[in-house]
Amino acid sequence: MATIGIFDSGSGGLSVLREIVKVLPCERFIYFSDNAYCPYGNKTREYVVSRARTITELLLDKGCEAIVVACNTATAAAIETLRAEDSVPFIGMEPAVKPAALGTESGVIGVLATAGTLKASKYLKTKGLYENDVVIKEHVGEGFVELVERGALCGPETDRVVEESVRPLVDAGADIIVLGCTHYPFLIDAIRKAAGPHVRIIDPAPAVAGQLVRVLRERGISVCEDPASCGANGPSIELLSSGDPSAMKKLCSTFVGRS
Ligand code: DGL
Repeated sequence: MATIGIFDSGSGGLSVLREIVKVLPCERFIYFSDNAYCPYGNKTREYVVSRARTITELLLDKGCEAIVVACNTATAAAIETLRAEDSVPFIGMEPAVKPAALGTESGVIGVLATAGTLKASKYLKTKGLYENDVVIKEHVGEGFVELVERGALCGPETDRVVEESVRPLVDAGADIIVLGCTHYPFLIDAIRKAAGPHVRIIDPAPAVAGQLVRVLRERGISVCEDPASCGANGPSIELLSSGDPSAMKKLCSTFVGRS
């Protein structure tokens, strides 16, 4: 059984863990929510790198053999530093600009992400590959992270907050919206309502889960290949946080399952 660490500024990375347990149903996962320091999206790069280092150390001390940086903002700010400092595999997030650019019919794609992700060189590089072919319209999901951390996933206030950031993308003609922050998939119902039925929403989490499996195989980290006979009876999930764990625990039991 492999031990895999996953972290985010808060509960958002659970949207990635939810996809990972579908493809790796018998492993041991240690999830760290840095909710005492959340959000990351409006902090400096140095701040996010320092938090990512501290959490990585903790996860390595607990025996993690691979680490998923289940946070677009932390991936953009820190993954190169983490990879240079430790030899375990680090799997990061990337806004799904490529599939959106290849799939758009209107020629306009929308990207919802944090300010930190949108100004990071990692994102700007990806954007540079496609912006001659399609119009890329960006918007920060203002207030989205706070809604998710409070567990306010639906209701009139959520709809209003979400509509304010989604509407400009739809008004610009986007027919595909990329979710570039791991908190945002928890607001998918409100995002769909604001965007309308003709707009496709892309969450990169399933692709990241697939990438994790590929990397574990490449590195020779053994994972269960036959859930029917391994006897693990589902994933083991340990939840850790720097702040109050109650909202994370609730979100985990609703969306991921056992912990
Ligand atoms: N979930 C995060 C991301 O994917 C971080 C959001 C935040 O803390 O601002 O970017």
